[in-house]
Parts: sequence; structure tokens; C-alpha cells
Amino acid sequence: MTGSPGTNPRQFLASHLFLKLPYPTKEFSGQTIIITGSNTGMGMEAARHFVRLNASKVILAVRTASKGLAAKKSIEASTKRLNVVEVWDLDLTSYDSVKAFAKKAKGLERLDVVVENAAVFKFDRELKEGNESTVTVNVISTFLLALLVLPKLRETGVKHNKMPVLTFTGSFTHADVKFPERKAMRIFEELNKEDVKLKERYEVSKLIQLLCTRELASQLDKSGKPGRVIISTLNPGFVATSIMRDAKWPYTWWLAFLKVVLSRTPEEGGRTLVNAAYGGDGTHGKYLDDCKIGTVSPFVTSEEGVETQKRLWAELSEILEKIQPGVVGNI
Ligand SMILES: NC(=O)c1ccc[n+]([C@@H]2O[C@H](COP(=O)([O-])OP(=O)(O)OC[C@H]3O[C@@H](n4cnc5c(N)ncnc54)[C@H](OP(=O)(O)O)[C@@H]3O)[C@@H](O)[C@H]2O)c1
Repeated sequence: MTGSPGTNPRQFLASHLFLKLPYPTKEFSGQTIIITGSNTGMGMEAARHFVRLNASKVILAVRTASKGLAAKKSIEASTKRLNVVEVWDLDLTSYDSVKAFAKKAKGLERLDVVVENAAVFKFDRELKEGNESTVTVNVISTFLLALLVLPKLRETGVKHNKMPVLTFTGSFTHADVKFPERKAMRIFEELNKEDVKLKERYEVSKLIQLLCTRELASQLDKSGKPGRVIISTLNPGFVATSIMRDAKWPYTWWLAFLKVVLSRTPEEGGRTLVNAAYGGDGTHGKYLDDCKIGTVSPFVTSEEGVETQKRLWAELSEILEKIQPGVVGNI
């Protein structure tokens, strides 16, 4: 299950050194877009693109209002478009915050795109809502929000005869993990054990996210509910942001070096989010890489990967049902 960096190291290097990602030009006129983790990094730059591309409402879902307001100011200054950006509170370490956010989103007139972009890269163990915080933020809250906004996305699809998009910012690092916790009877419980190492936890969270996104897409295909929602995972590549803000020396030196020689800018990373937001039937259930359909790690499509996907989804569904009874019925 290795092959760092990502599924194809040669392609990774070539695309980071030579590929020019397409600059988004197709408009989002009239659309309402939610993007989580959009006060900084590629989330903010994607929001800037959405506003420039004429979206009607762009909701910055952030955990610190002052940072969200600063992002809004910056976007308004560069795009010269006012009354488009809204800043809403969302803290993925709190299920109540996720529920309150989703309740507010229910009141929207329409919801065309949700980009689940917020994530943490932790080096120390910390519990949030009873789970290790990487799992809480990058997986549980992320899918709680996904299932809670599904009805509004569907409703928009039916009303406007279109296919709204729910996309997740994944990572090439999903391919770089051993993920021994998958062998346990209960994977989420294993991930929560104090003696289980946090090394590779971020990468594992991105693998779990990818598997659960694929399962969600397949479950939606079987659901008889009206309205088709496009589900995808996007890989932005290696982007110079502050995602590894908690990293320690000597890792920090290595990162600084990589940022200089290899990384994409947050604006370039933002293009990959916008590309995924365009959606389209062909992207449903897919992993998008370099703004096109990419290749997942061999584990993901292996027999064991598919079985792990089913087990993870069953466990995650149980967890989500405890947090919000009935939520899995939104599929
Ligand atoms: N940078 C890369 O090379 C890279 C590569 C592959 C994938 N990604 C993925 O890209 C996405 C965006 O990351 P980035 O690189 O742009 O890093 P970033 O600048 O650090 O952005 C992460 C965002 O997530 C937010 N966030 C963290 N914890 C949160 C919480 N509990 N509730 C709500 N929001 C929370 C952060 O808010 P605060 O500012 O308040 O902390 C920030 O807005 C992430 O999913 C990351 O895993 C990044």
C-alpha cells in the first residue's frame, strides 16, 4: 500500500514541475456554494475564484469568525464583488456546531455546490467528541455535514433540473499508508486507542475519506430518491499552505525545502477545487487528480480495499446515527 508520493511518483513529479492546471473560466452564475475551511489556503483561493466566476452566494464555513471576515474582505477587494460572500460558523471539532450549520443551510433558497475542504494534520493526540481529533474533523464531522446537506442539494437539483455537487478535498497521501488498524474488528475503536500511533494518521484519514466517499456515491446510486447529487474526491497535489502548521523539526525543514522546489500555490490548488465543483456525471464517485479523472491507489480497488470500504461505512453510519438519529436515511 505504498508508493509515495501518491499513486504514481513520476506523474506526481511531472505534474508539479511542468503541468499548468487549467485556470477556471466557466461561470457559476446564480449558484450558492458552501466551502469549508475557506479562511485561508486553497479553500480561500477557491472561494475567490467562485466569486470572480459570478456565483450568487459563496458561504465561507469557518471556525474563527474574525479569520473568515478577513478572508471575505480580501476576496471582496480583489474581485470587487460585494454582497456575495457570507461568513458562517462551523467548527468540525463539535457535532453541535456541524448540526447548527446544517440547520442554517436548510434555510437556503438553493445549494448548488458544497466543497468539504477543511481538515487538520495533527502530530499530537487530542480527543474531540470522544475521538482522536483527526478522525473527528477529517472523517466523522465531514460526513455528518455531507449527509445533513444532502436533502438541500437534492432539492436544488430537482428544482433547477441540474446535478448539484458534493466534493471532498482528498489527498495523494491516501496511497502512502499501511493502515494496520483496518485489521481490527472495529476500525474506528482501534484508531481511538491511546497506544495506536498517530504516525500516518492524516494519510489514513484521507484514505478513509476516499473510501467513504466512494461508498456514499455508490449508495446514492441505489437510492430511489429524486435528484442526483454528484459526489467526488479531489486531489489538489502538494500546495504551499499552512496545513502542516503543527509539524516539528526536522520535518519543518524538509517541508520548507519541498515548498520551494515542488509546491503549487494556494491559487493553483484552489483551481482543483473549482474544477471538482463543475461536476458532471463523469466525475461521480471519482478521484480527481490534476483537474481530471485520476487513479486511486491499488489498495482502494483491491478486494480487501472494497471490503474495508464497506466495513468503514457500516461503522461510520453507526457513529453518525448516534450523533443524529435518522441521518443515514438522507441518502
Ligand atoms: N496543502 C497540501 O499540500 C494539501 C495536499 C493534499 C490535500 N490537502 C487538503 O487540502 C485541504 C485544505 O488544506 P490547505 O492545504 O489549504 O490547508 P490550510 O490552509 O491549513 O486550510 C485548512 C482549513 O481547514 C480549517 N479547519 C481546520 N480545523 C477545522 C475545524 N475544526 N473546523 C472548521 N475548519 C477547520 C482551517 O481553519 P483554521 O485556519 O481556523 O485552522 C483552514 O481554513 C485539506 O483538506 C487538506 O487536507 C492539502
